[in-house]
Amino acid sequence: MAVIGAIGCGKTTLAGLMMRFYDADSGAVLVDGIDVGEYRQRALREKIAIAMQKSELFGVTVGENIAWGLPGADSMSLASAASIAQADSFISSLGNGYDTMVAERGMSLSGGQKQRISVARAVLKPAEIFIFDDSTSALDLKTEADLYRALKESRPDSTKIIIAQRIASVRNSRDPEFYTDCPE
Ligand SMILES: Nc1ncnc2c1ncn2[C@@H]1O[C@H](COP(=O)(O)OP(=O)(O)OP(=O)(O)O)[C@@H](O)[C@H]1O
Ligand SMILES: [Mg+2]
Repeated sequence: MAVIGAIGCGKTTLAGLMMRFYDADSGAVLVDGIDVGEYRQRALREKIAIAMQKSELFGVTVGENIAWGLPGADSMSLASAASIAQADSFISSLGNGYDTMVAERGMSLSGGQKQRISVARAVLKPAEIFIFDDSTSALDLKTEADLYRALKESRPDSTKIIIAQRIASVRNSRDPEFYTDCPE
């Protein structure tokens, strides 16, 4: 599912309502047919993995930053999540690979590198629903398309909610045959 809209139109708010970072003033938000207010917070947060628009990286290693989504994850799972996020090659090129320290708030990494670590952190979780809030805006279109293709192949049965500003971001995530017949 793609959510596209102008700056400030409420995309991040929608994700926040789903995660129940705050409650709706009126109406209701249903996840799998159940009002989010009726879920135990833990059950809801286990069901949904989110790569937040302003995601935090911490002053720990790259591997520990990714494992934030699933403490205690083994190195194979970390590498697999990084590979989906198109982060494996740049991580390998860092001085100590997954053991490289990240400066506080990710200051030692580029915007696109930070985004990919955040995506890896989200996909590490065995969630049913993934939300990517503007998570690939700093990537070039090819890397972005590779990322969404890998995600689709590796997590075929999960729901992916992709929030983006560029229509190309979500169009590229689809099979070419899926959209060629669609009007602009
Ligand atoms: N914590 C908050 N308190 C009050 N208003 C807020 C808060 N966060 C966002 N808003 C307002 O709510 C509206 C929707 O914001 P939101 O962050 O959901 O937009 P968005 O579509 O995600 O924008 P962007 O494309 O810039 O990420 C905006 O007008 C914003 O100013
Ligand atoms: Mg937003």
